[in-house]
Amino acid sequence: MVNVMSKIKFEIEKRKAKVELPETLVFGQLFTDHIFEVDYDEELGGWHNPTIKKFGNIGLSPAAMVFHYGQALFEGLKAYKQESGRIALFRPQKNVERLNKSAKRICMPEIDPDLMLEALIELVRVDKDWIPTKQGHSLYIRPVMFASQALLGVHPSHNYKLIVMLSPVGPYYPEGFRPVPILATDKYARAVRKGTGEAKVAGNYAASLLAQSEANKEGYSQVLWLDAIEQKNIEEVGAMNIFVQFKNEIATPALNGSILPGITRMSVIEILKEWGMKISERTISINEIIDAYKNNELVELFGTGTAAIISSVSKLKYNDHVLLFDETKAGELGTKLYEELLGIQIGKVSDRHNWMVYID
Ligand code: PLP
Ligand code: COI
Repeated sequence: MVNVMSKIKFEIEKRKAKVELPETLVFGQLFTDHIFEVDYDEELGGWHNPTIKKFGNIGLSPAAMVFHYGQALFEGLKAYKQESGRIALFRPQKNVERLNKSAKRICMPEIDPDLMLEALIELVRVDKDWIPTKQGHSLYIRPVMFASQALLGVHPSHNYKLIVMLSPVGPYYPEGFRPVPILATDKYARAVRKGTGEAKVAGNYAASLLAQSEANKEGYSQVLWLDAIEQKNIEEVGAMNIFVQFKNEIATPALNGSILPGITRMSVIEILKEWGMKISERTISINEIIDAYKNNELVELFGTGTAAIISSVSKLKYNDHVLLFDETKAGELGTKLYEELLGIQIGKVSDRHNWMVYID
């Protein structure tokens, strides 16, 4: 693939007033002043015209292929203003790597990782005044890539657009940082092995919405997905990977092709190993969890994700089984991991893995 990348063009709008962030930030509702945008055209040699410009609506043909055949992917990562005042991104190279893997899976062009990383850094630099500093708050970075060619034939588009937007965020769940109730379902499936489950593509989320809405109506925040073939092994939660602490082992489902390889998951595994704890990536059936609960051998469950950070589970329902945990506060291990991970991100805990990318 040929990249004809020139340097990023800056079309910066000066703000008239200082950025004033509201006291409460609902996840993904507020956006900063600028976006990064770059276009892909096979005939022009690939990605071209990378620009940081004012946030605003974009023009697309009604025939743009993304609307019809769903070639769209996204990413999610965060920037933090650390206690020292320095600004840092958490493992952005991993998101760029995953973005390119997702692109490949749905026949979209990969992008030069150096340009993508530079775009993330420059955009955050431009809108750095939007980074919230309250505990657990951050600047959420959302890259999205989609097919923009106006054509109704079913084949990979020849044109794409990649946009990065920024959103100052607080907690992902309305529960705040309190534990969340989740519902395991065998009524629907999110993704199947050899499908697109391990890619961060928009269609996976569309496929999950009906189950999530039904779970919400029953009072559950998210769905705990089971494997699509046997419908007995746990996979992941709507927006998080899942960890199970048994009495003698911490386990998380092995990446089998239908689970999103979470960057928080990967980081938590590294931290647990560093702490000398036994962490297994393996098949975990829903019945194993229920049996462990009945036998007092289940300590806690927690989810991991960029938006959700570490979220403990307050309740897990599966058919007639209801497993109850502390709903007022996160479990011991979940809390320890939350403090360690967030500590690294905000500069309170040493970044001995070199995960943070400083932009100043
Ligand atoms: N699983 C799904 C379906 C997700 O949407 C997310 C969020 O990105 C995750 C897992 C966690 O991934 P990460 O830790 O990279 O944010
Ligand atoms: C994230 O954690 O970045 C996610 O993408 C989860 C969700 C907002 C879809």
